Amino acid sequence: MLNKRILKINKSSTLAIVEKAKELRNQGIDVITLSVGEPDFSTPNYIKQTGKGAIDDNKTRYTAASGIKELKEALIKRYKEEQGVEFSLNEIIIHPGSKFSIYLTASVVLNEGERVLIPSPYWVSYPEIIKAAGGEPVFVKYWDNQNGFQYSFEKFLPEIKRGIKLFILSSPSNPTGAIMKGAELKKLLQASLDYDFYLLIDECYRRLIFDNLEYPSPLKILPEAKDKVLVSGSFSKTYAMTGWRIGWTFANSEIIDYMGRLQSHSTSNPPTISQYAALAAITQEKDEVDKMVMEYNKRRDMGYELLKNINGVMIQKPEGAFYLFPNIKKAIKGKYDNTFQFAEKLLSKYHVAVVPGEAFGEEGFIRISYAASEKHIREGIEKIKQALNE
Ligand SMILES: Cc1ncc(COP(=O)(O)O)c(C=O)c1O
Repeated sequence: MLNKRILKINKSSTLAIVEKAKELRNQGIDVITLSVGEPDFSTPNYIKQTGKGAIDDNKTRYTAASGIKELKEALIKRYKEEQGVEFSLNEIIIHPGSKFSIYLTASVVLNEGERVLIPSPYWVSYPEIIKAAGGEPVFVKYWDNQNGFQYSFEKFLPEIKRGIKLFILSSPSNPTGAIMKGAELKKLLQASLDYDFYLLIDECYRRLIFDNLEYPSPLKILPEAKDKVLVSGSFSKTYAMTGWRIGWTFANSEIIDYMGRLQSHSTSNPPTISQYAALAAITQEKDEVDKMVMEYNKRRDMGYELLKNINGVMIQKPEGAFYLFPNIKKAIKGKYDNTFQFAEKLLSKYHVAVVPGEAFGEEGFIRISYAASEKHIREGIEKIKQALNE
């Protein structure tokens, strides 16, 4: 028999839709893809040029397994400018993508059977990563009819009191776009001290925030909690660099040390060329990210308005990331058994790919990515409307 933990790992359900859409495309069918979790923009030119330059300069060998010092220093500086908190060099590690940050967090922090609180709906990989590390995911729904998706500490408290080792917070959230507000975050940070658990804040979408909303900086809110907090970050979405594979973690030096050991015996250093490109991404950035954020903001507003006017659809305006997560329960009632069935029909008959809420632990919703052209968003939502009215 294969490894018991591994046998519990599910396939990525978002990838299943992407693969089916690809199949249709291979048959020559024009598919509108609103399912992917990556920017439709190309990596900005100045970053690409630096990547090419790194190859020409023979920056193509191994680096320190935990990443190059210059990139760590640049990230520390950026974090201090943005969030007012200073980390030292032994409190940061660079990874081949931030997914590996979450993987290493689980591997370093968890013992067999320890509970991890994951607010639901959640990003698809969290539960599988926890299971692979021997932990037990505990889901707590944070949606209610009155407030929609609002991270409210009170909802999480009962499970926290039952004992958890780790809490994973995606803020802004994939798939809902919700940001945990300062007051709630403060209570959660205090709880990490009172009830003794680690808090992993996944800041993958941290720069993609709309309407100039404030992002509450956790460690400024409660600096005493610094030892309990891990911050995971990524170049993927912010700089349209998904394929370059660079992410990072800030955490206390003991955790970073063990993450470094495990990384050095598994992936070794993140891609060298990509590390230099990432360094340029933050040190030479002008208005490239701001422009992309403005574009996402426009698309979000458009998608939100279009969805809001469909009968039976409830939609909350996301505060960040690049997904809309409408509740279509009423609209599919009596027509489709569940949102998975709806998404399948939408793809096979209307050739529009979205991800059903089941993938995020929330049946009745669909995730629509607006990392797509305005034309595709408009046409895709029109087809969603037709499929719902069928
Ligand atoms: C919430 C969240 N965290 C982490 C990641 C991982 O990103 P990467 O490994 O490309 O840095 C993703 C990617 O989709 C995500 O949506």
